[in-house]
Amino acid sequence: MDFLCLFILLLLLFFQWTAAPAAAEISWTYTGLVGQTEWAQYFPYCGATSQSPVDVVTTQTKYDPSLIPLTPLGYNQHGYKPFTLFNNGHTAGILLPEWMGVSGLPWLFTAVQMHLHWGSGGPSYGGSEHTINGLSADAELHVVHYNSELYPNMSTAMTQRNGLAVLGILIVTGEETNLAFNNILNYLGRVRHADQSVSIPAFDVQSLLPKDLGRYYRYNGSLTTPPCYQSVIWTLFHERVQISKAQLLKMETILYSSKAEEKDRMLLQDNYRETQPLNHRVIFTSFTAESGKELSSGEVTAIVIGVMCGCVGLAVIVRFIVKTIRSTSSWDVLPSNRPAPMPRMNEPEKKQDVDLNMTSEGEKKEEPSLPPQTEP
Ligand SMILES: *[C@@H]1O[C@H](CO)[C@@H](O)[C@H](O)[C@H]1NC(C)=O
Ligand SMILES: *[C@@H]1O[C@H](CO)[C@@H](O)[C@H](O)[C@H]1NC(C)=O
Repeated sequence: MDFLCLFILLLLLFFQWTAAPAAAEISWTYTGLVGQTEWAQYFPYCGATSQSPVDVVTTQTKYDPSLIPLTPLGYNQHGYKPFTLFNNGHTAGILLPEWMGVSGLPWLFTAVQMHLHWGSGGPSYGGSEHTINGLSADAELHVVHYNSELYPNMSTAMTQRNGLAVLGILIVTGEETNLAFNNILNYLGRVRHADQSVSIPAFDVQSLLPKDLGRYYRYNGSLTTPPCYQSVIWTLFHERVQISKAQLLKMETILYSSKAEEKDRMLLQDNYRETQPLNHRVIFTSFTAESGKELSSGEVTAIVIGVMCGCVGLAVIVRFIVKTIRSTSSWDVLPSNRPAPMPRMNEPEKKQDVDLNMTSEGEKKEEPSLPPQTEP
């Protein structure tokens, strides 16, 4: 009997041991059985204190003048080798060639992949992961890089401090079609089901980014999907990119989170995580509120007129003071107060003479109009 008990115990231990790695590959989702509120039960980091995404409360950000503009490296030298577009059931994205990277961070980072997050309700129904002052954008692009100065590859870097740098680009909708995004959207129909991938023509990745790469928010955070490693240096650009409503609709309705062989098709929608508590973290900005404002022509006119009025006013005051000095102290004593002219200073001395002549002429002209010595 004792032997049987031991056997059963060993069997249980064995199953526990083999079940543990399986838990790491558990299939998580955004809603449902292993939805985002359950992630932390299976992936402990998802319940840790430096998670992403976050809400950027702009009044609580801190300006850091050391945050220089980011420079994409090789983003627009895509070459002729096709890109790989994938649908992994959680997102659609593109694997990036290793010669692409980004500088302007404390280390050099090598590009790995980029992917999208979106909603389900069309414009103004959410879809971005990061929010600004509580407001969502319609979608969000993430360009993922790993720290190739400190770590040998992505799989090592993603678990380590400062291992990853992700560029976050908020996407909003407008009237115009964003042709750069068609380089992705035109091919989504070929990866409708989870685990599908396809080769697509390479294109200029930088054309997906906003023009202004100098103004951004910076904070330390995590992967926004399990296992939620807290290894990410986040850069969220201030400028947002715009796609058309039709482009957003395509992104939101064309993909499935279910596999091709699965009978019940599940649309891949609302693949964004709720914002996470900051927990004493500070979000830094590379820009100040003033530098963010662009002046309207009316404001420029007002400033020009203001400056001109100021100058005229100053000139009037200076003239008044000069006159007061001249009328209270004798003009004739001024030249004798000056040091004797040095031979080498002929030029300045001449100029002074001219100046004096001019002012004394002006003096002569205006002197009669002023009642002499009326001031107390
Ligand atoms: C990444 O690097 C580590 C450490 O050198 C190595 O053990 C691991 O096999 C590498 N992984 C990949 C996917 O190349
Ligand atoms: C991120 O954490 C590192 C310490 O690992 C710290 O030196 C750095 O200032 C932090 N960066 C931000 C933007 O908070």
